[in-house]
Amino acid sequence: MTSLELMEERFTHDSVLLKEVVTHLITDRDGIYLDGTVGLGGHSEAILEALSARGKILGTDMDPEALTASSERLKPFPGRYRLVRANFRNLNDVLDGEGISQLSGALFDLGVSSLQFDKASRGFAIRLDGPLDMRLDPHSKLTAARICNEWPAEQIELLLREYGEERAAKRIARLIVDVRKEQPFETTRQLAELLESKMARKGKIHPATKTFMALRIAVNQELENLTRGVESVISRVANGGRIAVITFHSLEDRIVKNLFRSLADHGQVKLITNSPVCPGDEEISRNPRSRSSKLRVIEVTA
Ligand SMILES: C[S@@+](CC[C@H](N)C(=O)[O-])C[C@H]1O[C@@H](n2cnc3c(N)ncnc32)[C@H](O)[C@@H]1O
Repeated sequence: MTSLELMEERFTHDSVLLKEVVTHLITDRDGIYLDGTVGLGGHSEAILEALSARGKILGTDMDPEALTASSERLKPFPGRYRLVRANFRNLNDVLDGEGISQLSGALFDLGVSSLQFDKASRGFAIRLDGPLDMRLDPHSKLTAARICNEWPAEQIELLLREYGEERAAKRIARLIVDVRKEQPFETTRQLAELLESKMARKGKIHPATKTFMALRIAVNQELENLTRGVESVISRVANGGRIAVITFHSLEDRIVKNLFRSLADHGQVKLITNSPVCPGDEEISRNPRSRSSKLRVIEVTA
């Protein structure tokens, strides 16, 4: 992708709960903040604008295209940001590599950006035809096609049940394994059309929706990364600093809620949001994708 295309792309992703992140996250205007999911740089830009001229951002993302787009966007803040290609589950290594012992706060805005979701070649979207890929990190080996073509039916069933909360997990897993004997899965359309033709549609929801979500979570190990990323950042955020997480589905939100509660019970943090902050009507009508987002925030106390 050319940098011109990337610059055009950057205007297509609306960062969710932008004002809410800025007001809840910043406790020290001169501090160093981690944006663990820098994406197209929308939250980082807003945080840098709200900080003093001494305040800085360290942004990580495992998608090199996201880093190209965010570095364009953050150009107006020279010397105040560093971008590193990394999985946020390895934050301690990243922070050690950057010589940062303590952060003033950290943000994780989970999932995929429009840059990834709206591009057929990334293979995330049911409605676009592309390779059945779904990798956020193009260097990782596991793709959604490999899962569909190589994993045993029982393992596919388990992932559909656990990550997709799909009631028809067994049936869909069997279907995938039967069909691949005739023709291996290569494209998103193949999988979407198979489920469209064999599974009943509930209202407007495409019958492949939960399957696509489960595959994406498995390909990118999203839930394991979330737990490891948040756990590892706790010891790096200064006393009084905050950690903010935006989730987009109930599995993620449950993990964050339980992790935050357990940290609070152990006296390591205090809950800043007892119930999650959600977008208002204006944001939802401007950006329907924000509908399911939830922001939870804790403050480090020990
Ligand atoms: C919702 S987008 C972030 C959008 C960003 N906050 C903005 O305002 O433009 C999520 C980003 O997190 C990245 N991501 C997801 N999981 C990650 C992980 N474990 N480590 C690093 N980056 C990750 C994705 O590649 C994607 O670019």
